[in-house]
Amino acid sequence: MGLKPATNPDVEAATIELTIDGKTVTAKDGVSLYDVISSTGKIIPAMCYHYTFDPFGSCGMCLVMQEGKKAPVRSCTAKAAAGMMIRTEGDDLFQARKKAVEKHLSVHPLDCPVCDADGHCELQDMAFQHGVTNLANAKQKFIPEDTRSPVLDFNMNRCIACAECINVCKDVLMIDALQFMKKGGFNQVVAKGDLPLACEFCGDCLAVCPVGAITNKFSKYLYKPWQMKKTTTTCNYCGDGCQMYLETKDTEVIRVTSPLSWKNKWGDRADTGKGHGGLCVKGRFGFEYMDSSNRLKRPLLRKGNQLVEVPWLEAMHTAVDRFADIRKKHGPEAIAGLITARCTNEELYLFQKLMRVAFRTNNLDSSARYGHMNFVRASKAALGIGRTPNDWEDLTKAKAVLVIGSNLTETNPLTSVRIKEAIRVYKAQVAVFDTAITNLGKLASHPFLIKAGTEGLVIDGLVKTAINLDLVDEESVKKHPQAFAALKSAVSSISLEQVAAKTGVTVEQFKEVATIFAESPRSIILCAEGIVRQPDGYQNVLKLIDLAWITGKLGRPGCGVNTVTEEPNEQGAVDMGVAPEFLPGLASSDDQAMRDKLAKAWDATLPQTGSGAHLTEILKRCRSGQIRALYVVGENPLATLPASMEVRAGLDRLELLVVQDPFLTETGQMAHVVLPATTSAEKDGTFTNLEGRVLRCRQAMDAIGESVPDWQIMTALANGLGCQWEYDSANDIQAEIMKLIPGYYNLGQPKKIVPTADHYLSNGYAAAVGGRYKGVRSETAAPFTLQMGQLLYHSGKLSTLAPGLIKIGPNTGRIRMHPADMERLGLQDGAMVKLSSERGSLQIGVQVDQSVAPNTCFFPEHFNEPPVKDLMAVHIDPITGVPAFKRTGVTIEKV
Ligand code: SF4
Ligand code: SF4
Ligand code: SF4
Ligand code: FES
Repeated sequence: MGLKPATNPDVEAATIELTIDGKTVTAKDGVSLYDVISSTGKIIPAMCYHYTFDPFGSCGMCLVMQEGKKAPVRSCTAKAAAGMMIRTEGDDLFQARKKAVEKHLSVHPLDCPVCDADGHCELQDMAFQHGVTNLANAKQKFIPEDTRSPVLDFNMNRCIACAECINVCKDVLMIDALQFMKKGGFNQVVAKGDLPLACEFCGDCLAVCPVGAITNKFSKYLYKPWQMKKTTTTCNYCGDGCQMYLETKDTEVIRVTSPLSWKNKWGDRADTGKGHGGLCVKGRFGFEYMDSSNRLKRPLLRKGNQLVEVPWLEAMHTAVDRFADIRKKHGPEAIAGLITARCTNEELYLFQKLMRVAFRTNNLDSSARYGHMNFVRASKAALGIGRTPNDWEDLTKAKAVLVIGSNLTETNPLTSVRIKEAIRVYKAQVAVFDTAITNLGKLASHPFLIKAGTEGLVIDGLVKTAINLDLVDEESVKKHPQAFAALKSAVSSISLEQVAAKTGVTVEQFKEVATIFAESPRSIILCAEGIVRQPDGYQNVLKLIDLAWITGKLGRPGCGVNTVTEEPNEQGAVDMGVAPEFLPGLASSDDQAMRDKLAKAWDATLPQTGSGAHLTEILKRCRSGQIRALYVVGENPLATLPASMEVRAGLDRLELLVVQDPFLTETGQMAHVVLPATTSAEKDGTFTNLEGRVLRCRQAMDAIGESVPDWQIMTALANGLGCQWEYDSANDIQAEIMKLIPGYYNLGQPKKIVPTADHYLSNGYAAAVGGRYKGVRSETAAPFTLQMGQLLYHSGKLSTLAPGLIKIGPNTGRIRMHPADMERLGLQDGAMVKLSSERGSLQIGVQVDQSVAPNTCFFPEHFNEPPVKDLMAVHIDPITGVPAFKRTGVTIEKV
């Protein structure tokens, strides 16, 4: 698999001079000649070339004449050398390229009228450009189409054997799911071993195929490319924030395409660190929820036991009157609101303004509370930033990456592509600590399968080792001698041997990883759900910050402690102030200057400092009757939280539950008023991705039924409650945000911030750090650990509304187990077991999964059938209120 040095942008090579069409050009010795030519702005035909992967040299189009050689050379595979004299144009070259096109067309079916690539086909373009007209004698291959994959069809009659699909899958994605195989006298692209395609279904092979040999099952034979409206927007599934093109026809989404395409084959290899332009399976094939027939089309009002369709006016009057009535009778503290981080920044901003100004309460929260808030709070407390300091490029070009508690290829697939590039192209050392056998772990230089629930201990081990081996950065620690002494004392009683025994990482391995991390010039830590969604999440992020501080990796370019976000706008939700503890701009809720600024701008009095409840407290107060009215925007706590949180009991007690959502969710079914909102495809706005990059979401189609963007509903609600808001568009809201948080709209570019821990380390750190390092604690361990987590094919519950994703990743209704465990318990695939935790038990089937670690079992959190989540215990973080409920001890008995 290794990268050919010719295209490694990091390679140390001499600078040389060569001549292209009479002009002297400088380049690195040994790089692809084609890259040198295109860097001069000259574009010559190249059908098998793409800048994101290594040259293959099969199409015969990129021909140039090199002085001293009789025949043309293929510039993509030729290496630039000092003194070369190259000519890129001339009749001889035109004729040679024309011959190459004719050769491809001589075995082509010429079925352009029924080909999805018609009008978007490089072979067509090349034939046209070179005046190829002698098509009558094309030989047919008569290869049957391979339609076995759930998303892609392979029509090898059209294939020009350019290998772009194979190369993108192998080089860029490091999945390597495709190969050439000689069949029926032709070299055909098949899934490895000629089996049905079993891969990540990202569709990047489809994107780079220059002809119609790979087709998208979802849009095949529906429309020609030029018949669709193409809107550039941002994916609404995860925090990676991939850019995509939504291709629509009226109110129908036909397909999703991406900046990665054979059309965009020219670029600088050093720039792929910012992203290669591809998508994952969710982004490319998960669009069907947008125009689903299950969308809510009209408002619903509870009449008796039923929700019945009513006109908007009736629904809004009811909601406004009842909110106003409850506020009048019981005060603003009787009202609360929850919102999903799938909403835009503008909607999140408006939501918190609505809660604080119209309802006059600080009882508000977003889905960032499910975990991201642990990172935000720790990063804000220690470094004053409250977000990730590094962007994708830093990640790609890091020399050491420590991934802890994150199955990135499943949760944030495109961030994982960055780490793959770090491994493959930039030769980074990557240590992966996870409780599952992850795809990234298989590629990492230092993969560690750690025991369930020991992520925090692993950090203890790394910090202790860094101190023991004196891997500390003198400059960093000498500024804060008291803090460092306190940290040393906090870890002094930790026994590395005990930590090793408990985690499964040996003392030697701790030494190796800590040394690599400390000694690398660019070291990055990436933590995710295994840290932030678990008990002690907040403290564990602080411990990672300790590790980065003592090894000198805070504030140094290309270094830092980072996380990834599950939903597309979790960072935006906290940035916009959707939390009782934060105001817009991540200002603390007691920041008097910001309070004054907001009060003036909003012409309102803000709820009292220190008031307000977060998610878990809101639900508790619903149960106790303190909160009587709840406004839920796109959230679905009933389906998300385990039974022990007694969400149903809380919602049942409410006098008013207003749910605003594109779909009738489980929570919506309990509502008094349901307001139909649009999806991200039907509105404008912005999302802030996990790098802090603010990205546009653009309206691609008309709203379905009578659904309305969330910001419009919020505006109407606020005005019904006595405000005078005059927002006519998302831009109007943006203009207001810009004034309150100057510089926030760094559209396209993540804002570089330099974290500094000086204040934190010299103010109370020494007293606080003592309780942070707990070392090995004795616990009665259950025989198995049940883990709930994400699957590549899904994101929250939203993706389960996309039939294509359900087809690829259905709910099997079974727990996944390691084959050795199944064998030990005498279980066959599909056998029924009794799965019991402290919270109860249920009967469920089992299925083999090689990626599940021994002594654990896994159930995807996207599904509630059977209700496995109700077996989970909930630990609420004492500092941040984050409810951790993804892991619990269980027994498994054969039935
Ligand atoms: S869909 Fe993605 S993973 Fe599957 S073969 Fe194509 S490029 Fe490879
Ligand atoms: S399927 Fe497409 S991308 Fe793959 S080798 Fe054939 S023409 Fe090239
Ligand atoms: S789900 Fe995430 S990784 Fe996949 S396309 Fe969307 S933003 Fe990108
Ligand atoms: S682009 Fe060079 S041979 Fe195809």
